[in-house]
Amino acid sequence: MLKLHKTIESNSALLIFGILIVTSIGGFVQILPNLFDQSLHKGTENIKPYTALELTGRDVYIREGCVGCHSQQIRPLVAEVMRYGESSVSGEFIYDRPFLWGSKRTGPDLARIGGKYSDKWHELHLIDPRSVVPESIMPSYPWLNENMVDKSLIVAKLNVLKKMDHPYTDEQIKKAESDLTGKTELQAMIAYLQVLGTYR
Ligand code: HEC
Repeated sequence: MLKLHKTIESNSALLIFGILIVTSIGGFVQILPNLFDQSLHKGTENIKPYTALELTGRDVYIREGCVGCHSQQIRPLVAEVMRYGESSVSGEFIYDRPFLWGSKRTGPDLARIGGKYSDKWHELHLIDPRSVVPESIMPSYPWLNENMVDKSLIVAKLNVLKKMDHPYTDEQIKKAESDLTGKTELQAMIAYLQVLGTYR
């Protein structure tokens, strides 16, 4: 045994080969069952694709880098469930492209933020977090209230998502631009935040 150990450790090519074999067994054991578990490929009962306004808010969320401070995944641990609500399930994310699970929590998890506060609270909080949470270290995003949403790409976006099996109707796509007319980025962001976690 010791001799085998010595042979492997003194031959880097053999060692690399051995590491690859061992890690790929680990990888397969983790990944393969998930590919065949149908329950992981289905949406939750209440799942709906994002509306034009919510989707636009989501794109602003991505642009502003909110994911750098906020996760959107509640793990099935007592402390998390008590703080944030029911743990996340895969079916809630089938219309999230790309998903925004995140890996950093400078601020709280937002997976179930929908309905927790009023639209007005979000408005005040996004324009100036300190106005509602005095000790907050979250940056202010006052420009969201000044910028009108960019509607030039919404029809193309919905069409692309439709090709990827997001069930948008032709009517929703036709109305998309008018749904965004006169809306600020702040209104879009709030529409998005208010729907998070309501699809379970
Ligand atoms: C630098 C880190 C940071 C960034 C970037 C950031 N936040 Fe926050 N956020 C926080 C912190 C810290 C808190 C907790 C204090 C507070 O409520 O303001 C918070 C709180 C929140 C809350 C309230 C959560 C709750 O359950 O009370 C919401 C909603 C929120 N952020 C949304 C956003 C959005 C949307 C963006 C992007 C436009 C964003 N945050 C960007 C740090 C951040």
